[in-house]
Amino acid sequence: MFPEHRPRRLRRTETLRRMVRETSVSVSDLIYPIFIKEGRSIKEPISSMPSQFRYSPDMLSDHIKYISSLGIPAVLLFGIPKKKDPVGSQAHRKDGVVQQAIKRIKDINPDLIVITDVCLCEYTDHGHCGILDDKGEVQNDDTLDILSHIALSHAKAGSDMIAPSDMMDGRVGIIRDALDDSSFENIPIMSYTAKYASSFYGPFRDAAGSTPKYGDRKGYQMDPPNIREAILEAGFDIEEGADIIMVKPALPYLDVIRVLADEFEVPLCAYQVSGEYAMIKAAAASGWADEDSCVMETMTSIKRSGADMIITYFAPQVAGLLS
Ligand code: PBG
Repeated sequence: MFPEHRPRRLRRTETLRRMVRETSVSVSDLIYPIFIKEGRSIKEPISSMPSQFRYSPDMLSDHIKYISSLGIPAVLLFGIPKKKDPVGSQAHRKDGVVQQAIKRIKDINPDLIVITDVCLCEYTDHGHCGILDDKGEVQNDDTLDILSHIALSHAKAGSDMIAPSDMMDGRVGIIRDALDDSSFENIPIMSYTAKYASSFYGPFRDAAGSTPKYGDRKGYQMDPPNIREAILEAGFDIEEGADIIMVKPALPYLDVIRVLADEFEVPLCAYQVSGEYAMIKAAAASGWADEDSCVMETMTSIKRSGADMIITYFAPQVAGLLS
């Protein structure tokens, strides 16, 4: 016998399920990361990230048109320079690889929002996100100046939004001041606020050639067991002028997304990183999981946990599935 006071759940048809659904994923939630490699005529597959490529700026046309046709509103650019040095000087060159790519993309589709990653690790020969002292320690304060030069050079090239991912303390405020002083008050900052020292960045470092030559990033990226620290970091970033905050990676840190969504009023972005992408791709390639439905489930989970937007290498696939 059915318990007397237990209400029955609705027997759900697909139509009813849709009516009572609490979370939705839309193409306007998506940001697609692209790797740009300095040079000409390059379209190179990334072996640890099936279906993802490194493009030289001159090869972006078809790809950008395709992304635009899917209705994806924004891309996030990472640069891979020809030459690296200890201070990452290629990162703020006027005709650097990202600066060239921004202009190229704006020529192809001026309406596509171009977000640019600001960090040194792809540009330094040692692979760290800041400059080092003679003991090999990252110098937080000395790195800030270089970061603001990079941000400014991106803004001058036409970037719509600056995304610092280096995790140096104080970088949001320094970048905000540098942008404001050069009349870029309207360029927003999306800060990698809670960026954890994660093992899920492996394929990205392979793609960008940015694995540290020695040591790790634990000194400046966040420690995975910590969540109160994420709230502290978010408070600092917002005070310094961050317009959007971010949690990265996404799926192993859904609790962090939820806490920041509850605590703060600014828009919240989640980054489904390269290792999360590679994991689903590998399982699907082995026939162990259904790729499309796993991907959509992760999108739903990330939105349900409170993210307003998602950076994902699956963006074109998700856009296709939603249409
Ligand atoms: C640069 C940066 C990294 C990622 C985004 N920006 C690598 C890192 O911190 O080692 C990782 C993104 C991904 O794994 O998809 N600092």
